[in-house]
Amino acid sequence: MVIPAIPQIIKILGLIFFLWLSLFIMLLYFYDSENNTFEVYFEDFTLYSELLFDHLKPECIDSDEVHSHILSRDQREETPSYVPISYGFDSYNEKSFFQFKSYDKCNFNSIFTLINNTYYIAKPNNTELLVIQGCNRDEEQFGGGKLEFPIIFPEDNFTINDNCEYFYARHSNSSGNAMLRNVYKQEYASKAKNISEAIIKSSGTTEFRPLTVVMFVIDSVSRQGLYRNLKKTIQWINDDVVSSDGDYAKDFVVYDYKLINAIEAFTVPNLVPLLYGISKEQALKKLVSANNDKIEDQHKFTMLQQNYSLFSHFKSLGYVTMFLNDVVTDYLSKVTGRKILSDHQASNFWKLGKEYYQYDDFNNNDQCIGEYPPHYYSLKYLSEFLKNYQNYNRFAYVHINTAHAGIGTRLNIADSDFKTFFQDLLQIYKQSKEDILFVFMSDHGTSRGDFIGLNSLAERVNPFQLIISNKRLIKSLDAQKYLEINTQRLVSRYDIYRSLKNIAWVPYRMMNDSIDEGIYTEIKSVNIFNKEIFFNRTCDDAGVKENFCLAVKFEDIDPISLATNDITKFAVLESINMINAVLGKINCQKYSLRIVFRIQKLQMEKDKDLPNTHYLIQFGVNENPNAVFLTHMTHGYQNQYIGINEKKPFQSIKRVFVKKEGKSYYYSVTKIWSVSRLDPTSYSTNLRKCGESIKFSNNFIYSGISKNCLETCKSEGLNCTTHSFSTTLSGYYEKMGFDIEKVGTGSSIELYKTIVEFGSGDSCTMMYNKGTGICQCTLKELL
Ligand SMILES: *[C@@H]1O[C@H](CO)[C@@H](O)[C@H](O)[C@H]1NC(C)=O
Ligand SMILES: *[C@@H]1O[C@H](CO)[C@@H](O)[C@H](O)[C@H]1NC(C)=O
Ligand SMILES: *[C@@H]1O[C@H](CO)[C@@H](O)[C@H](O)[C@H]1NC(C)=O
Ligand SMILES: *[C@@H]1O[C@H](CO)[C@@H](O)[C@H](O)[C@H]1NC(C)=O
Ligand SMILES: *[C@@H]1O[C@H](CO)[C@@H](O)[C@H](O)[C@H]1NC(C)=O
Ligand SMILES: *[C@@H]1O[C@H](CO)[C@@H](O)[C@H](O)[C@H]1NC(C)=O
Ligand SMILES: *[C@@H]1O[C@H](CO)[C@@H](O)[C@H](O)[C@H]1NC(C)=O
Ligand SMILES: *[C@@H]1O[C@H](CO)[C@@H](O)[C@H](O)[C@H]1NC(C)=O
Ligand SMILES: *[C@@H]1O[C@H](CO)[C@@H](O)[C@H](O)[C@H]1NC(C)=O
Repeated sequence: MVIPAIPQIIKILGLIFFLWLSLFIMLLYFYDSENNTFEVYFEDFTLYSELLFDHLKPECIDSDEVHSHILSRDQREETPSYVPISYGFDSYNEKSFFQFKSYDKCNFNSIFTLINNTYYIAKPNNTELLVIQGCNRDEEQFGGGKLEFPIIFPEDNFTINDNCEYFYARHSNSSGNAMLRNVYKQEYASKAKNISEAIIKSSGTTEFRPLTVVMFVIDSVSRQGLYRNLKKTIQWINDDVVSSDGDYAKDFVVYDYKLINAIEAFTVPNLVPLLYGISKEQALKKLVSANNDKIEDQHKFTMLQQNYSLFSHFKSLGYVTMFLNDVVTDYLSKVTGRKILSDHQASNFWKLGKEYYQYDDFNNNDQCIGEYPPHYYSLKYLSEFLKNYQNYNRFAYVHINTAHAGIGTRLNIADSDFKTFFQDLLQIYKQSKEDILFVFMSDHGTSRGDFIGLNSLAERVNPFQLIISNKRLIKSLDAQKYLEINTQRLVSRYDIYRSLKNIAWVPYRMMNDSIDEGIYTEIKSVNIFNKEIFFNRTCDDAGVKENFCLAVKFEDIDPISLATNDITKFAVLESINMINAVLGKINCQKYSLRIVFRIQKLQMEKDKDLPNTHYLIQFGVNENPNAVFLTHMTHGYQNQYIGINEKKPFQSIKRVFVKKEGKSYYYSVTKIWSVSRLDPTSYSTNLRKCGESIKFSNNFIYSGISKNCLETCKSEGLNCTTHSFSTTLSGYYEKMGFDIEKVGTGSSIELYKTIVEFGSGDSCTMMYNKGTGICQCTLKELL
């Protein structure tokens, strides 16, 4: 007898195992839940998937206990009245759009010597020394406008005045150096203390605890952009603040507000409600064309600040206040004026940067002011401010523009600095007996140039907002329940204003309903610390302008209209042409249009003469009756598109002259972005017939056994992405007779018995152990 070689035994064992596994999986599919034996296995599997997607598990923790959830990029919250059309470019589809470039390090050798907190500058023989120092609070001027910096040419070594917050110096042979610092002023501290003490006295509270409130704005960062650019910072928060064994988990808590919709995709319309509680339009009306540079108009700006601004409010309640915004252009300053009523104001340093280092908040390139990139000074100034006024109430508004220009990926250079900043901050507050509320946010989202895309729209109008606080504060306010539920609600800019105005009373234990009633906002708002935001709040309710609202829906139009609509007709016929070009190459029979199943239309910016319009068209062909194709196409002015001449598979454009205005010619562009095959296909390639082997823009493929979609797509030579048009897909599955259930906030689509489950996990990385995943596998060239 011949003993089989070892490899053959392994093959046989493998075969047996495979057969067993197939049988097991078949049983899983077809077995009715009556049989208990399989139920047990089944539960095990669900448990396993819950372990993998821990953050999606319903919380069993008592909802009043103060706790955080893992910050997770791919969470798709929605409410009945606010379903975002897109969540922006996620980690699976952003690569070609959001490239990171490297920036040079700032390489200056400091000419400042710091001894005992005093800066000295040496003047070597035979060199000229030039010094500028900014020591006068009254001279600080926010925004654009030119300053004459008083220049000193010292005869000898020079000592910077201890009162000066910024300075610059240069040897005749060097490019010089600049510095910004926060200088403690006894006057500000005493004033805050006086007011504080008066309020404590009148309130009779015995448990005064100083509170720090920081509003930190990074201009132009979408929620995706936060996760895209500050990876280390987010990871650190997850490891050290959120995870129960983190160093700061016992004392601090973090909330991620996912449903924020910018009022418009610009700074001023968002900042004015955030800082003043009224709209930009209302503020400008109250200012009656006040001019920043006219002395006689200054009282108008001052009055507006006094009546509405957060800095005045906090100041009047015994806080030392600080205002830092690194712009050298006039936007927000048209509403605030150049003089801010805060105690500290760091403005002129940026103008100095502009004068000596070509600093500009609109510049997208390497930027250094002296030895460091601009954001370094803002973080440093804030840290120093917070340290200088320990034991006092503090309010700081800090606004930086590191992500302002271009696609915002320059923010990445600040990642490590933010991580260190938060580390140091929490370390200090961990040891102190004070409370802190840190609102880390953006005014509006990331600009992606391409105004027509839905992912681009989401990037532009969904800014990030995290709230970081110490648990004792949240607990004393009994706010956990509200802060948490509101992370899943449409939070408005006016809510933040109202909430902070309320919070200002907390050190005196006086935040109450009658205080809240006295706070005016132009649009109805809630204190997110003690009220639940209405679950069906709409964009309109939140003051969001129609053209910037993400909760827009495709509407169905009659498929018959194709016959008379040149745009949709072009899309379908051109799609079939593109498919036929591929079929021709592989000697397969060409397709002809059989039926148009559905046309969906979405018109953006309806008030424009040629609104950006999206179409999703489902159609079938005579030669392959089972197949359902989906074409995504847009129509709009040519200038709404970028990279218009790029040739990618299954993309096509048609340009048509529209009008001439003056010397400008206007063209409309109809662009097919993708042609996809909607009906899910099986994994096994060899079952495919002729036309079935075509790789479309998106291909919906059943996940393999014990495989995730990353692997499934990869084995087809495609890339896994999250699903592009979930509602269109759910409509399609519904029509195929499946029940649709939304089971979580993830991006997955999973077929289980007669149910298509949306959202149980991350569509690309999750293991589909319950049913089978429907993977969206995309052509590499389109990513
Ligand atoms: C710095 O401070 C220390 C202690 O106050 C003092 O002894 C020393 O002389 C100071 N150095 C300078 C250069 O002023
Ligand atoms: C100026 O500073 C340099 C370097 O610290 C030192 O060597 C020099 O003696 C100083 N000169 C005077 C006049 O103090
Ligand atoms: C600078 O000049 C002075 C007087 O001209 C001289 O005494 C001194 O040695 C010089 N110092 C250096 C570092 O060259
Ligand atoms: C400028 O000159 C001084 C004295 O001659 C020297 O110490 C320094 O290194 C020079 N700096 C640069 C940037 O060349
Ligand atoms: C603080 O109050 C004291 C006593 O009431 C007063 O003398 C002082 O001038 C006040 N300081 C400020 C800065 O208002
Ligand atoms: C500010 O408030 C004062 C007093 O209530 C009022 O007279 C004034 O009109 C207000 N100014 C603005 C710009 O709202
Ligand atoms: C709310 O706070 C105010 C302080 O402005 C106080 O006068 C009032 O009595 C408080 N109301 C309640 C119900 O505690
Ligand atoms: C929101 O819900 C409330 C009741 O829960 C209802 O009165 C209101 O009409 C709803 N509004 C919208 C826009 O659905
Ligand atoms: C596509 O997938 C391949 C591996 O399958 C990977 O190397 C590549 O980075 C992916 N491309 C994109 C844009 O994700």
